[in-house]
Amino acid sequence: MAFIIAVDGPAASGKGTIASRLAKLYGYPLLDSGLLYRGVGLKVAQDGGDLDDVSVATAAALALRPSELEQPELRTRAAGELASRVAVHTPVRQALREFQQRFAAQEPGSVIDGRDIGTVIAPAAPAKLYVTASAEIRADRRWRQLVGQGEAVAYDEILADIRKRDERDGGRADSPMTQAADAVLLDTSEMTIDQAFDAARRIVETARARSGNLPG
Ligand code: C5P
Repeated sequence: MAFIIAVDGPAASGKGTIASRLAKLYGYPLLDSGLLYRGVGLKVAQDGGDLDDVSVATAAALALRPSELEQPELRTRAAGELASRVAVHTPVRQALREFQQRFAAQEPGSVIDGRDIGTVIAPAAPAKLYVTASAEIRADRRWRQLVGQGEAVAYDEILADIRKRDERDGGRADSPMTQAADAVLLDTSEMTIDQAFDAARRIVETARARSGNLPG
């Protein structure tokens, strides 16, 4: 079985950076599953559709092409909000599931980050991390990043955004954001990104040794 590394957690927890550094370390392909939901949300918004309309959002999910995941607009704050609105719809999640599961099954391994990878997409993944940090610290990181990119935005606005997104992602009925029972919790609140990556690498190495999948 492929050595799947599932990295879940809330926005701005550091999970994306950790996932991409793990993928580089092991030479595995990386899927940022949030991009799929961002792609669907942006498609609906660009077509002037209603994000709350399940059939409109599902049609956008079924029509999504991998080439559309390259758009720089997908990385914006606004696209994150659009993504979490369409991510509540069960048929949207179903439409995106097979692609993620096929990606995960690639030999010899893969890294996927998201909200429901360890719980729904790859429940048998041998390595699962749940990366988190306090809402205040996540907001501070995101705020510094945006200000660094020249965006004039208030910290309080970012904190409110993060809290709203946590609530929507954790409160939805289908595949809510939650730590899988067998995932290792990594709280990065007091860590630099290098320390967080190092801790993540150790968690994965332990899982590798346990599964008999030795590095190399
Ligand atoms: O990780 P990212 O911030 O790009 O995710 C955007 C949104 O997409 C999340 O807030 C969540 O609503 C949704 N998402 C999801 N399941 C995933 C990945 C992302 O519901 N596996």
